[in-house]
Amino acid sequence: MNARPEQLAAPTRLDAYRAPAWRVETVELAFDLAIDTTEVTARLRLRCDPTQTQPLRLDGENLELLSIALDGTALAADAYRYANNVLEIDGARDGSVLETRVRLRPAANTALEGLYLSGSAEAGFLLTQCEAEGFRHITFFPDRPDVQALYTVTLRADRDRFPVLLAGGNPDGAGELDDGRHWARFVDPHPKPGYLFAVVAGRLQSIERDYLTADGRAVTLKIWAEADVIDRCDYAMDALERAMRWDERTYGRNYDLDVFHVVATHDFNMGAMENKGLNIFNAKYLLADPGSSTDDEYRHVESVIAHEYFHNWSGNRVTCRDWFQLSLKEGLTVFREQSFSADMNSAPLKRIEDVSLLRRAQFPEDAGPLAHPVRPAQYSEINNFYTATVYEKGAELVRMLAGRLGREGFRRGMDLYFARNDGKAATLEDFLAALGEANHTDLGPYLAWYAQAGTPRLQARGEYDEARRSYALTLRQHTPATASQAQTHPLPIPVKLALFDRDGRMMPLHMDAQTSKAATETVVVLDTDESTFVFHDVPSAPVPSLLRGFSAPVILECDYDAAELALLLRHDPDGFNRWEAGQQLATLAYAELRDGAPGHALDAWLGALSDLFARGEVEQALLANLLTPPTEVEWAEREARVDPARIHALRQQLQRQLAERIGAEALQQRYRTLAGEASAALDAASQAQRRLKQRVLELLCLIAPDVAQPLAAAQYDSAPGMTDRLGALAVLLRSDAPQAAAARAHYRQRHADNALALDKWFTVQAQVPGEAALDRVLMLERDPAFTLKNPNRVQSLLGAFVRANPSGFHRADGAGYRFLAERLVQLDALNPQVAARLATAFNGWQRLEPGRRQAARAVIEDVADRDGLSRNLREIVANVLK
Ligand code: PHE
Ligand code: ZN
Repeated sequence: MNARPEQLAAPTRLDAYRAPAWRVETVELAFDLAIDTTEVTARLRLRCDPTQTQPLRLDGENLELLSIALDGTALAADAYRYANNVLEIDGARDGSVLETRVRLRPAANTALEGLYLSGSAEAGFLLTQCEAEGFRHITFFPDRPDVQALYTVTLRADRDRFPVLLAGGNPDGAGELDDGRHWARFVDPHPKPGYLFAVVAGRLQSIERDYLTADGRAVTLKIWAEADVIDRCDYAMDALERAMRWDERTYGRNYDLDVFHVVATHDFNMGAMENKGLNIFNAKYLLADPGSSTDDEYRHVESVIAHEYFHNWSGNRVTCRDWFQLSLKEGLTVFREQSFSADMNSAPLKRIEDVSLLRRAQFPEDAGPLAHPVRPAQYSEINNFYTATVYEKGAELVRMLAGRLGREGFRRGMDLYFARNDGKAATLEDFLAALGEANHTDLGPYLAWYAQAGTPRLQARGEYDEARRSYALTLRQHTPATASQAQTHPLPIPVKLALFDRDGRMMPLHMDAQTSKAATETVVVLDTDESTFVFHDVPSAPVPSLLRGFSAPVILECDYDAAELALLLRHDPDGFNRWEAGQQLATLAYAELRDGAPGHALDAWLGALSDLFARGEVEQALLANLLTPPTEVEWAEREARVDPARIHALRQQLQRQLAERIGAEALQQRYRTLAGEASAALDAASQAQRRLKQRVLELLCLIAPDVAQPLAAAQYDSAPGMTDRLGALAVLLRSDAPQAAAARAHYRQRHADNALALDKWFTVQAQVPGEAALDRVLMLERDPAFTLKNPNRVQSLLGAFVRANPSGFHRADGAGYRFLAERLVQLDALNPQVAARLATAFNGWQRLEPGRRQAARAVIEDVADRDGLSRNLREIVANVLK
């Protein structure tokens, strides 16, 4: 590899944005495709303001330049310069046509960015990945999202080796060439930035469906995959159709080409990609079948299919001006996808899942040295900013805006946003302006949420005045400083709330004298440091249910006592807040155990849950969630000197107590009832039943392994689907059951030819907690199916270990850290994006207890000192040390 000069490049800054001096009106691309070398010819029609004086500069990385001509004349060597990934050309004018020809080496491209090979040279296929800056790995181009052009793409390749040729846009002819080759052409009538460009070529099969849009366009939907997995694409096709109908109904958005292609690959850095008319999916989020996919995976397929499809409007028709606006498309599209999934499944469960993810992934990011605003102010490597903050917190911000405007107001605002910015590259200001103007309101204050990093703390204190029968709720906010921002400001925080009487009934709310018909739920907005909200005619001291449905992405600090939380846990009809009360109560109980003083909270938590369990009036899936305490990661977030082994032990102890309070007998009985109904059906009720059954089995295994292990072994053997099989295997492995080895070996053999099923085999073992985990991971690395070259496999073993097994990764002797460092350096040479993402597992090391902290620091500093790191990994390691 040559030296990487970009290592030294200064960061890109939001405030340094300049509109492009040169634009591209049309692009004609021709590919002569082959596995080892591919040649790309590009004809760009260039536009500029004729009075401007900037020379033409095009991005280009790892391109072997074969020829270059301007307005039909080959350029002399002194008329252009190609250095530091920029091609500078003299003599171009407004209306000039530039033609370049370059050679690429797809089979050697292990970074999976630009044109690359999926699978083996003999049997695999070629595909592209261009977001964020991959297009410059394919041709010379102003590779920035605010340069939007019309594309015509011609593909030529050997017919036997590449029977299928695809590019984004509508098909515009195909035919034979001499010597066994063929060609196909595609024209995209919608202007698009280079990051949405895609081609695919190889031996692929397809399933197909006709679709008629609400506005009358006949569309062919096609899902493509390799022959051995094509029969696992039907669920995705159904989900796609549901998503398209939903977007028509909910936002009035119709699809806008004659064909919509979706392609599955096993070699992909991310989840999926919304290329115009040619979405490309990590197989993990596309393939699904009962024999090898869990219920969670089915739901992920549905939501990722929807997410990428929704980008066709929120991202493609309206794109981002620059990468600082990434959340304009990602936060918005995640929000749209979350609403879709909530409509398709259970809304409170979806909310619980999304908030758990936010707390597990985004809160730690926002609390440590990697913290950045939803719209970052600067970056060195844009690929490092596809973060939980940009995606998940970004979605929370859109949710707040949607809540503020109400359903109809938000739709009005979205209509205006799409109409006004269609075909354009927009900013977050454009988004807020459209939403605000359509509703005659100023949403400007919400921009502060996009500019400020860190999770706000919301403190709530209530005071009941018995004589006046009034209740004063004082809310206060404070956002701790982060590595990137020392000064923080108050933000508008919508707090949805209700008041409960001591019998668990919601009280009517009277905030001013005029209110005649009182609601039982309201939203107050705290937009200053502190404010007091007064409720009248309150007959008795209430228990407030605050931040209902998680109405703002903040950390609520309210001095609830155990009895108040237990009351909400027992009675709050808001499923999310009911769960939330249980989580807070479990956290109080955890603190009691930690301080060696089990007391009221523990007792209240155990009492409420065992009652709810026995009474059976809570819906099964929600009950399973109620019976699950917060994750170890969430509890680590609250501590100043984190000892992951101790947190794990305490969490186990808490769950054991819960199991004991419910009782082995009751657990066993419930398990048998639930197991009696076992099926592979995918409806919500069947999924809920499996989820609860799994939780019951796990709890039982904590107190009566001799009873639970044979049940788990039997469940493994007779499982009608993957959810039950994998769940049983996890219980056997985690409890070190005598039956574990056989099940483990059986699974390995049964799924030897199914990459996604095998990934789960690696994951379930990597997640077994405790000090022995590292040795297990080292042993699993020697399995012939393990490779650092496949991102899914890396995530399944290394990712699962470093991110989802705190007591294993944070081994007291620091061996986990040394192991990760070694793998990061190896991975970085192959795939910098994957290495950088894995390196974020070091986030939070500053708050470890002193022994682990020292060990971690030494290891991270050692990585930072290495020569030849990618810009991706270098930036993460440098930031993590801050
Ligand atoms: N834009 C893709 C998505 O969310 C994510 C992605 C980013 C994929 C970069 C590949 C590369 O939906
Ligand atoms: Zn997206």
